[in-house]
Amino acid sequence: MGTTHDGVAGGSEAARKIAAGLTYSPGFGNEHVSEAVTGALPVGRNSPQRAPLGLYAEQLSGTAFTEPRHHNQRSWLYRIRPSAAHPAFHRIGNRQLRTAPFTEVEPDPNRLRWNPLPLPQAPTDFVDGLVTVGGNGNALQRTGIGIHWYAANRSMTDRVFSDADGELLIVPERGGLLLRTELGLLSAEPGHVVLIPRGIRFRVELLDGEARGYVCENYGQPFRLPELGPIGANGLANARDFLAPVAWFEDRDEPVEVVNKFGGNLWAAEYSHSPLDVVAWHGNHVPYVYNLNRFNVLGSISYDHPDPSIFTVLTSPSDTPGLANADFVVFAPRWLVGEDTFRPPYFHRNVMSEFMGLVEGAYDAKAEGFVPGGASLHNMMSAHGPDRETVEAASSAELKPHKVDDGLAFMFETRWPVVPTAQALGADHRQPGYDAVWQGLERHFTS
Ligand SMILES: [Fe+2]
Repeated sequence: MGTTHDGVAGGSEAARKIAAGLTYSPGFGNEHVSEAVTGALPVGRNSPQRAPLGLYAEQLSGTAFTEPRHHNQRSWLYRIRPSAAHPAFHRIGNRQLRTAPFTEVEPDPNRLRWNPLPLPQAPTDFVDGLVTVGGNGNALQRTGIGIHWYAANRSMTDRVFSDADGELLIVPERGGLLLRTELGLLSAEPGHVVLIPRGIRFRVELLDGEARGYVCENYGQPFRLPELGPIGANGLANARDFLAPVAWFEDRDEPVEVVNKFGGNLWAAEYSHSPLDVVAWHGNHVPYVYNLNRFNVLGSISYDHPDPSIFTVLTSPSDTPGLANADFVVFAPRWLVGEDTFRPPYFHRNVMSEFMGLVEGAYDAKAEGFVPGGASLHNMMSAHGPDRETVEAASSAELKPHKVDDGLAFMFETRWPVVPTAQALGADHRQPGYDAVWQGLERHFTS
């Protein structure tokens, strides 16, 4: 069970101590049930005439009331004050955060690549440290995604964030995070991912003084586990490895700035109390942390290798069967055993658009230039694949079983082209001359 009030202004050491002692409620899509104080959850009904312990009952809906049962998401929260009791929101600056529709620059067919986002020099928390790369769709129409980097050097204090525009899939690359959410505490290290559902309030504290990573802001249907089809009942990301928090609350009658991303802009309101005051809850609209090393990697044991959709961790479907608004795909350590097979990712042109990042190590299609914290964008129909050095090595390698275990790369793959922001195109850390990695691929054809 969570504790009631353990302070928020502590440094990384205090946050790390809290993170080390966390307990979780396992399972993806469950009807989780949790109370920080025994007896805080009503029994047998959601909205009794008077909720236990003088708490207010509140439903938080992540899907329309009427969506099919197996897709329906909502949680019931039992809190010290109802969320409705707040002053007006006012606009604050968006800094480097941008939102779809992206219209600053023309869609760009070129292959783009970036070095890591530099860590900030000035005091910067998670919200202030969000820098948008680009995206697609339209946030107000709940389609498409926004892609962001974040880089921070201080914890959020006296400040809480929520995103009405979409859910947030956070992929840490450097530095651990302690996330205090309305539903409880989560901690994530590089190699983990965190999913914060639309509208859930949270505060990010740093475990290591500095933090950097990637965010997929999903405006579309919530991420879910992909169908497994002939794979069977198990495999890829297993539901039980997703960890939801247990109830925790803070009873703070102190000023808290609540920042709400709505319609592409940041709005803030000065609360007289912390809105992280949920003493008990039940439901399935919940945040998760997932360790990517738990991903059960499947692949060919004969020849060729499957399309990278076999590495899908989570998918946000569109209205067209099989066509994802966004997929989150991980290239985790795995064995390659294919006979008479070109084993790196093949050359291809894809109707889907691919944003790739690297959490650690190296990626098996790029010998160099794609480094942890870096990123690449291969938009719709742009030709890409292994670089020259990788092709040469793979074409002549002895095909004995080989373990690819020197890195952790991931991809946000999305149905529409990703339109970059002006700041991403003009960034000092964008690599000029990315095309050169495919120069020098020799002609071997003989007629
Ligand atoms: Fe690709």
